Amino acid sequence: MILSLSKQIPSASRKIKLQWFSVTTAPYSHGHEIKLTTPMPEVASFKGVTSYTDLYNYSITNSNHFWETHAKSRLKWFEPFHTTSECDMSVGKAKWFLGGKLNVSVNCVDRHAQTNPDKIALIWEKDELGQNEFVTYQQLLEMVCRLANSLVDSGVRKGDRVAIYMPVSPIAVAAMLACARIGAVHSVVFAGFSADALAQRIKDAGAETIITTDQAVRGGKVIELKNIVNAALVQCPSVKRVFLSHRLGKSYARTDKDIDLDEAMSKADKYCEPVSMDSEDLLFMLYTSGSTGKPKGIVHTQAGYLLYAMMTQKYVFDYRDGDIYACVADVGWITGHSYVVYGPLGNGATSVLFESVPTYPDPGRYWNMVERLRINQFYGAPTAIRLLLRYGDSYVKKYDLSTLRVLGSVGEPINHEAWEWYHNVVGNGKCDVVDTWWQTETGGIAITPRPSSLGDVIVPSAPMRPFFGIQPALVGEDGKELVGGDSDGACCLKTPWPGMARTIYGDHERFLDTYYRPYPGYYFSGDGARKIENEFFQITGRMDDVLNISGHRLGTAEIEDILDEHVDVAEAAVVGVPHHIKGEEAFAFVSLKEGVSKQKVNLVGELKSDVRQKVAAFAVPGQILISDALPKTRSGKIMRRILRKLAAGEVNDLGDTSTLADPTVVERLAAERLKMK
Ligand code: WTA
Repeated sequence: MILSLSKQIPSASRKIKLQWFSVTTAPYSHGHEIKLTTPMPEVASFKGVTSYTDLYNYSITNSNHFWETHAKSRLKWFEPFHTTSECDMSVGKAKWFLGGKLNVSVNCVDRHAQTNPDKIALIWEKDELGQNEFVTYQQLLEMVCRLANSLVDSGVRKGDRVAIYMPVSPIAVAAMLACARIGAVHSVVFAGFSADALAQRIKDAGAETIITTDQAVRGGKVIELKNIVNAALVQCPSVKRVFLSHRLGKSYARTDKDIDLDEAMSKADKYCEPVSMDSEDLLFMLYTSGSTGKPKGIVHTQAGYLLYAMMTQKYVFDYRDGDIYACVADVGWITGHSYVVYGPLGNGATSVLFESVPTYPDPGRYWNMVERLRINQFYGAPTAIRLLLRYGDSYVKKYDLSTLRVLGSVGEPINHEAWEWYHNVVGNGKCDVVDTWWQTETGGIAITPRPSSLGDVIVPSAPMRPFFGIQPALVGEDGKELVGGDSDGACCLKTPWPGMARTIYGDHERFLDTYYRPYPGYYFSGDGARKIENEFFQITGRMDDVLNISGHRLGTAEIEDILDEHVDVAEAAVVGVPHHIKGEEAFAFVSLKEGVSKQKVNLVGELKSDVRQKVAAFAVPGQILISDALPKTRSGKIMRRILRKLAAGEVNDLGDTSTLADPTVVERLAAERLKMK
């Protein structure tokens, strides 16, 4: 069984692992030379920097000069910026590259189309095995321009919000970049979310435009995306237009707001003048879950986000010109934004778009793709690795994976077994495994090992070290930084970096309350962390009521709201329980209204179906325990600590129950829980 990371890997066993990796150097203190796998020409202008340690320290102590130099050499500007940064962590203020004008789509497409028009920008690995589509930078430019012109022709303007609800595909990437080209703010909604979840995000963003696809196909299953959009539209009268692209071309229900995207693009001009954007204009918003209330639209701006995504893609993955880079995330999540689209394309890379699922048509799908496309970097989620390792090594071994150099992991802690399998079986012991820690809010990877091909150490299952410009801090409950020892603390970031989120769309107070007020002077991530060997960072998990199910973030409150709406339900409380594949799963406790029988036929089925239809399939609780009451304190607060223990089956270890209003409630719940096993 997979326990929480903190339980699974006590620091004592870490030491053994460290010896196993024959650690003889501590990278911070003994970096005698600048060991970067890919060259960083800018180093020449960093005075006195001769070692990796120097370089990292320079990025902190001379942060402005470090980022200014990179921004000038790596981005194409219409007008130069006059001030590198105006940031104040004590009030949650962040502005980068002030006064600069640029266009992100020009940076991601035009400049590469000019120098290298026939280079492949995107390789679409379609759901159907062996079906690929290749898009060159020149072709991508035309797609982006035609799509951008179609938006403009229908009345979309700079600053307008555009919801994108599409499967992973070149047209989805073009839609994002087309928004960037005309200065519209995209809000990509993961195409696994329900009509209600989509409607909620459309309304919050005030989007008048949706770009979608007739059907999506994943693992051979057809998802009627357009029909889901139609259902969302009923709740969103302010939507004026729905652009529709075609994937399967099957029939769908039309509305008078539909615009056929292929048709519009074929009529539109093939060049679109890029809009000159201010560095701090909005680039996109992306909804993510918090511990309370509705999802929050995290806002990222133009220049800082792009530069940070590019730098991390290049240096974390040792990306070199000519590499084939595959991040198998969906574009609906931040990983897809930063490491399928903006980072790689900003760097002029060839980026693979993976439309399918890891087990279709069989559990060798990823590795079949790696062999066929000769992939050099593979970036995926621990949940998929855990799933695949159960099928054994043969699905990996039958493919030639010798092109792989770096294997990335993201979204949740990677447990030891999965890490070792990834390293030894997939990577044949020869690839660097980089366990990357970051969040929608950080814009890009914040804590990560760096590729060790130069003899550096990688500690299994730990993101280890901050990226350039990032200074993590472990902070105690008293708000003071913890120094020394293997102490657990809140994982905070102390210094500003260009990729940091700027606000929550329409709710800056919530932004400050969530990230900057809990530990004044720091950005608080919501995660806990500790240091191993007083040196390497390890994430211990969320400190709030946010679940991480198969790498997808979800607030317990989002599931509770749906369960509460059911006519028979008095109250619901959701907690997370460890799950051997998904990492974590939702476990729901539901108390019924008076007069409703606990034996009511198919109540559990109805509740599960409500969550599936109103949130998403991944949110459906694995188990639902129906009872007559929930354990509460005398002041009426639900005692989640006890529910977590009950859910985990630890009924004999419930801790202090003396503050409960009615201790017999727990006894009854414990009895019910035992019956469920
Ligand atoms: C978790 C995904 C442990 C963490 C990029 C974080 C991780 C949340 C790791 C962000 C990791 C992400 N080890 N936990 N390497 N990477 N997380 O916004 O709890 O979807 O706060 O961004 O995922 O999820 P999000």
